[in-house]
Amino acid sequence: MQSSVSIAKSKLPNVGTTIFTVMSTLAHEHDAINLSQGFPGFPIDPRLSELVMEAMTAGINQYAPMAGLPILREAISKKLETMYGCTYDSDTEVTVTAGATQALYTAIGSFVGEGDEVVIFTPAYDSYALEKIVSGSDIIVLSDEVYEHIVLDGKRHVSSCEIDGLRQRTIAVFSFGKTLHATGWKLGYAVGPRELMSEFRKVHQYNVFSANSPMQHAIANYLQDESKYLGLGQFFQAKRDFFLDKLKGSRFEWVPTQGTYFQLLNYSNISQGLDVDVAREWTKKYKVASIPISVFYHASLDEKMLRFCFAKEDEELARAAEILRQI
Ligand SMILES: Cc1ncc(COP(=O)(O)O)c(C=O)c1O
Repeated sequence: MQSSVSIAKSKLPNVGTTIFTVMSTLAHEHDAINLSQGFPGFPIDPRLSELVMEAMTAGINQYAPMAGLPILREAISKKLETMYGCTYDSDTEVTVTAGATQALYTAIGSFVGEGDEVVIFTPAYDSYALEKIVSGSDIIVLSDEVYEHIVLDGKRHVSSCEIDGLRQRTIAVFSFGKTLHATGWKLGYAVGPRELMSEFRKVHQYNVFSANSPMQHAIANYLQDESKYLGLGQFFQAKRDFFLDKLKGSRFEWVPTQGTYFQLLNYSNISQGLDVDVAREWTKKYKVASIPISVFYHASLDEKMLRFCFAKEDEELARAAEILRQI
């Protein structure tokens, strides 16, 4: 006989399952092309697999140091110096995490206490205006920079660490999942000035203690070749252009995305339904899954936009676009 446990008081009574799980599950149930969740539909570089195998074979299978393997922290430090001219001490200012999500959670857990004010703003790249907001205050900035390399049309990512006045009060978070086409590895890192990082690590040590070691070792070696990540913008630009070219003639409207591997499509010429309903209905009916944009707003602002991930093989993108053109 099964006994049931009743939870007297849920800590998160209003939290349900994330939209990413909801839409991916629906896509699976209805055998739909899944352009909802942001994961690449192609394999990682075989060289990276080889490096992981080499690390495992060499016996790098036990706990990594709490802050991450020194060889990887050094590689991260070097990369941030080369790309943004930002200096982070690999011993005290860089921590390897189990994905960006864990870094974000750990940062929030480290600095947000009861009664503190938290300001969350919709994605804006106006870092200088941000800088104005924090100057003269004791605000700590949590900067999510996981798409730093997926910047299209010849633009470049401006890191929070490049902006004087921000760097000193910012924990910046990055993800190897996005950069290496390996979202399932759940590896990322956080960087910040020593005083902030030491607080971050107090929570990190009890949160996961350390991230998995063979992948860290492999990534440290892989990052030595800059071309492995510097070409990502062009790679995804070609994917975006391919997808949008195949959508020509459809009733959707769009502005080509210039960052990330997501394209937003406005469907107001086709339906006036709520985006959450349209996303579900079309997954079932037309068998293409997307993410409704209103979920990214506090006030569920419905602008009749759906988000499609184009980090997929061309053949899958072509099939999805063909269906969308017919709607
Ligand atoms: C903006 C943003 N930040 C963080 C993450 C999570 O990254 P990770 O998979 O490394 O936890 C994602 C994943 O989609 C993302 O889009």
